[in-house]
Amino acid sequence: MPRILSGIKPTGRLHLGNYFGMMRPAIDWQEKGDALYFIADYHALTTVRDPAKLREDTRSLAVDFLACGLDPEKATFFRQSDVPQVTELTWLLSVMTPMGLLERCHAYKDALARGVSASHGLFAYPVLMAADILIYDSDVVPVGKDQKQHVEVTRDLAIKMNETYGEGLLKLPEPSILPELATIPGLDGQKMSKSYGNTIELFLEEKALRKKIMGILTDSTPVEAPKDPATSSIVGLYRLFATPAEVARMEEEFRAGGVGYGEFKKRLFGAVWDHFAPARARRDEIVRDPGAVDAVLRRGAERAGALADATLSRVRKAMGL
Ligand code: ADP
Ligand code: TRP
Repeated sequence: MPRILSGIKPTGRLHLGNYFGMMRPAIDWQEKGDALYFIADYHALTTVRDPAKLREDTRSLAVDFLACGLDPEKATFFRQSDVPQVTELTWLLSVMTPMGLLERCHAYKDALARGVSASHGLFAYPVLMAADILIYDSDVVPVGKDQKQHVEVTRDLAIKMNETYGEGLLKLPEPSILPELATIPGLDGQKMSKSYGNTIELFLEEKALRKKIMGILTDSTPVEAPKDPATSSIVGLYRLFATPAEVARMEEEFRAGGVGYGEFKKRLFGAVWDHFAPARARRDEIVRDPGAVDAVLRRGAERAGALADATLSRVRKAMGL
């Protein structure tokens, strides 16, 4: 049975990119193996400086994950910082990590390009992520495309550790990225991301969600004129929710002209709203019982901690500690 592992940072509210890129694949994977999922609060600290907000976003993301279908009877669900063993493995991997390997990482280079002042933590981010993956002997890591390079770094580090300290010490993981979902477009047609301010959050209330979707950027093609469905993020997003026949109909109407963007956006809003109705109802229930969420996370951390202890003592011993 494969061991499946993934994490998500508590930095703001869950958006459609997170949901389709990481969360839904992770939820599908819980049926296929021994899944471990966590809220990456140590990683969030590279950018979040407000303790109350970190706590709030961590809790809200845990609730979202459960509402979207994470089943704590099937998957082990925990907070990254409840298994501090992972920071010790980060150090043990750090001493084996070439600077150049980290300097080549896109996420770090992008952060620098955006003017984020680089801390050691931000630079070392992929090493902590490698420790997350390796400490649980993970086989499969379901993530969005932007995380692929980090899984490759993880493999490089595991290979180096095994060459130095003995074959079989660490297990080599594989990323799992669904090609058709590789990049979910945002309001402006670029990749949906908090850093670009173009996100659509799943659990917004009705009015706010409608407003967001009506705000999708479009060109000035008049209502009567034909429009290109291939370049439209309305169609790109609608495809995630509608049946193939519904998508085909929208594409035809784009090409034929006579229907305005506003009409297409309304149809998209309806599809998004209906799609998440069951999850919204579950979310409302879960929010009413915070103790139950704490219990799930505590139980998850106990199991994850035991697995982490085993790997860590193996690595400590191999390295001479
Ligand atoms: P953001 O870019 O908004 O900061 P994160 O980096 O926190 O999002 O992403 C969390 C998870 O969601 C990762 O696995 C990431 O690959 C996935 N993800 C985020 N945005 C998208 C997107 N637009 N398309 C596909 N997957 C995405
Ligand atoms: N870096 C990931 C992101 O930004 C989150 C993450 C942290 C993660 N540790 C991980 C994902 C381990 C998969 C496996 O989305």
